[in-house]
Amino acid sequence: MAHFGNYDDFCKDFSWSIAEKELEFDKNRPFNIGWHCSDRICNMGNGSKKALIWEGLGGKKKEYTYNDLRDRSNVIGTFLRSLGVQPEDRVCLFMDKIPELYIGFLGILKIGAIAQPLFSAFGDESLFVRLDNAGTSAIITQRKHVAKVRKIVDRLPNLKHIIIVDHDGKKSIKENEIAFNMDEAPIVSDFHVHPTTADSPSVLHYTSGTTGLPKGVKHVHYSLISQYLTTKWVLDLHDDDIYWCTADPGWVTGTSYGIIGPFSMGVTQCVMDVGFSADAWYNFIQNQHVTVWYSAPTAIRSLMKAGEETVKKYDLSSLRHLASVGEPLNAEAVIWSEKAYGKAFHDTYWQTETGSIMISNFPGMTIKPGSMGKPFPGITAGIVDVKTHEQITEPGRAGLIAFRPGWPAMMREYWKNPSAYESKFVKGWYLPGDRSSIDKDGYFWFIGRDDDVINTGGHLVGPFEIESALLEHPAVAESAVVGKPDPVNMEVVKAFVTVKPGFEPGQDLELQIMNFIRKKLSPLAMPQEIEFIDSLPKTRSGKIMRRILHAREWGEEIGDTSTLEDDE
Ligand code: PRX
Repeated sequence: MAHFGNYDDFCKDFSWSIAEKELEFDKNRPFNIGWHCSDRICNMGNGSKKALIWEGLGGKKKEYTYNDLRDRSNVIGTFLRSLGVQPEDRVCLFMDKIPELYIGFLGILKIGAIAQPLFSAFGDESLFVRLDNAGTSAIITQRKHVAKVRKIVDRLPNLKHIIIVDHDGKKSIKENEIAFNMDEAPIVSDFHVHPTTADSPSVLHYTSGTTGLPKGVKHVHYSLISQYLTTKWVLDLHDDDIYWCTADPGWVTGTSYGIIGPFSMGVTQCVMDVGFSADAWYNFIQNQHVTVWYSAPTAIRSLMKAGEETVKKYDLSSLRHLASVGEPLNAEAVIWSEKAYGKAFHDTYWQTETGSIMISNFPGMTIKPGSMGKPFPGITAGIVDVKTHEQITEPGRAGLIAFRPGWPAMMREYWKNPSAYESKFVKGWYLPGDRSSIDKDGYFWFIGRDDDVINTGGHLVGPFEIESALLEHPAVAESAVVGKPDPVNMEVVKAFVTVKPGFEPGQDLELQIMNFIRKKLSPLAMPQEIEFIDSLPKTRSGKIMRRILHAREWGEEIGDTSTLEDDE
């Protein structure tokens, strides 16, 4: 079927069978994302088309065709099988954005195992809780990250294999570690894709909540149906596009739309594994002739800071379609991008649990800058009252975003946490935990999260995880963590800390604690500010009231604290 056209026409008579037909889905036959993203494209006669163009630090470059994607993912799958990795075993990918991450992901899926990508900047404790919860049996990593794995492996009885993809043979390898070179391993001719079905588990992504440790969001192979169609209709990928998704596959955007969506469409995508700078990014767009660019508001705000002068230094005329996700895309950013690039960024809204884009500004649709747009065809979205969960039909009235469950990429469980999963469903709705309103034309306007999770630069961090880690610092008696406003990252982590007797609050201690969290958890979780206070606001039952501290940071009315206490 065609690419996106008139919104109302596309919503009328919509059925997911549109994607099922295009992907030749048959519920009685095997269905495997890894196969669809490589072998199928080759079988369609596009094996020699470029699939992945990669640029790394120091000008390193690599290219892989769809034939390579098929062959190299087979090599990885065969290697994992030779170690004894079984279908549904969890295999963690703990790497920078290098080709092994993208191709390894497909290889894991092709043997029916579950891919568990984790952000390579995670410290040992963040890594530990996620591997421990998932009972992960193998981890694929790089030399530069293996020290973090070594630190925790003794506490992970299920973790049997540590695979290092860039071992140069210079340093000796430990007994439980294996060197594996994806590019040099011989091609395997008789590879059999595991016959996964629509409901077989595929990907496990960890996401943070207000309370408790991060939750493992389990997806299944059938998610491809919505990931494919949203890639086609929202990101507007065509056969001859050069696509760039700036997200890291440690997070869901980097898998749903950085691997699965584009490869299942047989499109060429490029990846840059170099830190952010406006010049480096524009240079990449210019050199690769990027046509479709999927990024995030924090990056866009940083590009705005670099100014239009920097834009003018480059030829960005290849750009055809721009989209954004992860945080509110402010109206100024949309208007600026239209002026600077001659193209407006199209906001898209979704989350790890939804697996695919739920609300968006579609190509060709009138954009209202600052609005997230409209629901994808086939998605029933509404706003419900925060307390009663009754649907609000009055335009402009704020409430919780709500979706009727049943789209293909919907998560199937929180790993080993059924009660948390059930708590997301109320009165027949799935509640993603965000507040919004809908205007009279059916456009959604994001208001904020309905919980204490901090969204820093498009990455969710849970206050509980940081508070727990803070308590492990010898100087910290108690702590409360909230988001504080930030002009670029939207919000950053701020910690309020009371110190134990014998410790001196001050800049030295602040830096020491910051560093402690950065190493243990990640640079994202590191508080940008630590305020030492005498005591934290608490409820009568002794629970810390983050909301009071949050309101103070955002200059909001704190309101009646006695009701806040009752609420807790
Ligand atoms: O709060 C919403 C915010 O990011 C959350 C999802 O984060 P995560 O599961 O890490 O997935 C991020 C990428 C899909 C949402 O619950 N969010 C995501 N997109 C937007 C957004 N907030 C405002 N506008 C958006 N377009």
